Formats: sequence, structure tokens, C-alpha cells
Amino acid sequence: MSFDDPIDAGPILGLSHQYFAYTTALAAVELRLFDLLAGRTLSEAEIRAELDLHPRLTADFLDSLVAVGLLRREAGGYGNTRLSDHYLREHAATNVIRYVKGAQFRWQNLLQALRSGEPLVTMKPAGATMDNLRQGKDDWRKFFAWADYLASARNVALARRFDWSGIADFVDAGGGNGTAAAHVVRDNPHVRATVFDLPNAKPAFEEQMARLGTQGKVSFQTGDLFADPLPRADAVLFGGMLIDWSEEQRLAMLRSAYEALRPGGVVLAANHMLDDARSANVASFMVSLNIMLVSKDGRVPLMEDCRSWLRQAGFARVEIRPLAQGESLIVGHKDK
Ligand SMILES: C[S@@+](CC[C@H](N)C(=O)[O-])C[C@H]1O[C@@H](n2cnc3c(N)ncnc32)[C@H](O)[C@@H]1O
Repeated sequence: MSFDDPIDAGPILGLSHQYFAYTTALAAVELRLFDLLAGRTLSEAEIRAELDLHPRLTADFLDSLVAVGLLRREAGGYGNTRLSDHYLREHAATNVIRYVKGAQFRWQNLLQALRSGEPLVTMKPAGATMDNLRQGKDDWRKFFAWADYLASARNVALARRFDWSGIADFVDAGGGNGTAAAHVVRDNPHVRATVFDLPNAKPAFEEQMARLGTQGKVSFQTGDLFADPLPRADAVLFGGMLIDWSEEQRLAMLRSAYEALRPGGVVLAANHMLDDARSANVASFMVSLNIMLVSKDGRVPLMEDCRSWLRQAGFARVEIRPLAQGESLIVGHKDK
């Protein structure tokens, strides 16, 4: 390196700063700062007194949370933003704290997984989380709060940027509590939707439809994707579903969609996909490593893999377009 040919360390510094910001947010969660500020504004001195913090770091700590969008500062002091109030309060039904902390644990053990090739924690087979959910060992509401957190940008983009004009009805396969379907029918009132999911998802679905005011506009059909046929429709959506299954299961899902679609219908699969050159989208690589840390079969597929699965399932014409937050939408057309 010389003065004429400097090497800018900016990209590495940027990574470090993202880590610092993430750690700062985790510290705020750990301190239950967002619970303390629920529905009120407190000054820096009041926050320090409540949380037993030393004055030296606190102002910069709080203002850095303002800078990343997790606090707002006004005349009387600091309050939650809509974002932190919704997702990061311990007592919010929509909190995702447990998953954020889980991610911290997983990524601290990346090296172990790189060496062993095995998923971390329990070495359970793929679907272990689903088994826990099915057996009632886990809380479906919390699970769907997390799914909604992951899909929040996707749901809006899907409802607004995809052209639903030729579609009268669609099935959201593995649609969980119905949030994605609710977005689509709210923005495209001519569309009717059915969520197809396991029976345990139904109570969370009913609660969510009541909360969003979409009761009667989205129906729920109980079924097992790998055993029961999907209902007939103009479109079948798989939201975040082509990541955490074996290749055989992913193909089986797409074949089942092909069977269910009317001629001219479309399958829509929205999730992260790796670009074919395997170099572009950092978020998709991070999601892939993240899922490989916990699931033996899970991984983010290459776009080319997705195209190939859709073709094998029978879809003659396939397109991929960017969706939101690094995710892509693959659209497969069934011949008329
Ligand atoms: C990762 S979540 C995705 C939820 C939603 N599509 C989204 O994007 O937020 C996986 C969903 O698949 C459902 N599911 C898992 N196994 C299933 C099966 N065999 N048949 C039907 N649904 C299943 C789960 O209940 C859950 O709602």
C-alpha cells in the first residue's frame, strides 16, 4: 500500500459498526428499555435512574438507538418508535426478542457448525421446530409473530407490486396466521383467499383476522401440504416456504400447487434466493447460513434451482423478479 494506492478499510469498518449497532440494540432489549418506555417518554436522567446506568455512556447509548430507529427523542426525553414498540417489548404479543437472542447464540457458534457440518443446538432433523409446535411444546402465536416480522416487507410488496388483476382466488399454502393473505385481499378487494395450514395454526389465524378486520375475507382450510391436495385456485402462494425443507419436499409442494391450479394459473414463491453467480446478495447468504445453523435440510436455494424445480413441477414459463429486503419472487405459469 502507498499514498497513491490507499486501501480503504471502510467495508470492514462498516461490518464492525453493524455489529456494534446490533449489540447496542441487544443491550437495550436486555435492559428492557423498550418496556420501560412503553406509552411514555422519559429523560436520560430518569432512564439512568430506572435502569441503574452510569452517566458516562448513557447519552450516546440512547442517541445511537435514536440513530438506528429504535428510539425517538423529543422535548421530554426518549420514547419508543413504532418499530421497537411493536417488536422489542417483552410484553408485546408481537415481540420477537426470543428469536433475536436465539440468532445471537447461533452465530456465536458458527465455527462449530462450519467444522462439524451439523446444525447447532440439538442436531435435530429439519422440521424440529414444527414438531415442537405440533406437540404443543411451543407457542404458535410467538412463532407467527416471528414469521410476520420476517415477512413484513415481503407482504406489502407482494400485495402491491404483483399484478393481481387476473386472479379471482388464491391459496396461501403454509400461510400461517393469514397475514400475507390479509395484505393481498385488503389491497386487491376483488381477490378471495384461503389459508392452507396445519390445524394448530387456526386459532392464531382467527385472532389475526379479527385484529386486521379481514374476517370473512380470508378462509382457513386445514391440511397437510404433503398429504392433502390444495384447494383449486387461480394462484398458489408459498411465502418463505422454499427454504426450510428437503429438495424432495420442495418439489412435492410445487407439484401439489400445479395440480391445484386452474389452466393459466400461477404459482408464486417468495423468499430469499441466491443469485446464480453466487456473489450478489449479502442478506440472502446470511439467511442461508442462519437456517443451516439450525436445520439439516434448510438452505437458501439458487435462483437456477428454483427455476428447475418449477419446470420439473410442470410450469412451462418461469420468471424471477426482486421483491423486498433482498427477497425474490418466482412466478410459474401453468399453460392455459
Ligand atoms: C416459516 S412459516 C411461513 C409462514 C408464512 N407463509 C410466512 O411467510 O410468514 C411455515 C408455515 O408452514 C406451515 N406448515 C408446516 N408444515 C406444514 C404442512 N405439512 N402442511 C401445511 N402447512 C405446514 C406452518 O404451520 C407455518 O405456518
